[in-house]
Amino acid sequence: MGETHCAIAIDGPAASGKSTVAKVLAKRLGLNMVNSGAMYRAVTWEVVRRGIDPQDAAAVVALLGELVIECGVCAGHSTMTVGGVDPGAELRSDAVNAAVSSVSAVPEVREVLVAKQREMLRLGDLVMEGRDIGSVVFPDTPFKFYIDASEEVRRKRRAAEGQQDEVGERDRQDARRKTSPLKISEGALVIDSSELGIEEVVEKTVEGLRERGWFDREGGAKQS
Ligand code: DC
Repeated sequence: MGETHCAIAIDGPAASGKSTVAKVLAKRLGLNMVNSGAMYRAVTWEVVRRGIDPQDAAAVVALLGELVIECGVCAGHSTMTVGGVDPGAELRSDAVNAAVSSVSAVPEVREVLVAKQREMLRLGDLVMEGRDIGSVVFPDTPFKFYIDASEEVRRKRRAAEGQQDEVGERDRQDARRKTSPLKISEGALVIDSSELGIEEVVEKTVEGLRERGWFDREGGAKQS
């Protein structure tokens, strides 16, 4: 954790609604929102673009050494360029969906990106969503949430977005990997979003933040 700034960690499986919840929550509290999955996707996009086998960890690590990765914030949202290029909508391509779990299982990739995620705290209080934010990136934050939903609901959500995404398979890979697997971090408030709308989930996170003293912090964001 930084000296003064604080992180709200939102973890959960693919298509659990955590990105949307993180976005709405960050806007409501006037905080920066960091999508850590986009960072793993950006590195994967470069792996795919160069025709590197995503399962070839040595080749992925060699590429990593060459990459210039820059992270920032624009209008409250995290941004990232790889070699000066923002991959944009290509981050969500079928090829990236299929390769991202392999690339994000490479420990060296995680080391580089976790360091960049921690650096984002210098820019102010933030909401960060991902798989290991409460367990690895900001283990000391008391503000941890785990957003879940049934596999069927999550598959339907991705299909409604027009994406081909084997969410169940991706989760199994993300949960099985040795380094920083997807798991419910100790102390996290678990919210099942299967039957809830976004606003209802956001309400639950605000309630959880209140119980954990977010709004009582000195200089902390007051709820509007
Ligand atoms: O949240 P997402 O579906 O955009 O994430 C894409 C992939 O990135 C996910 O399958 C696993 C990986 N990821 C990770 O390993 N750790 C994170 N903190 C965020 C994402």
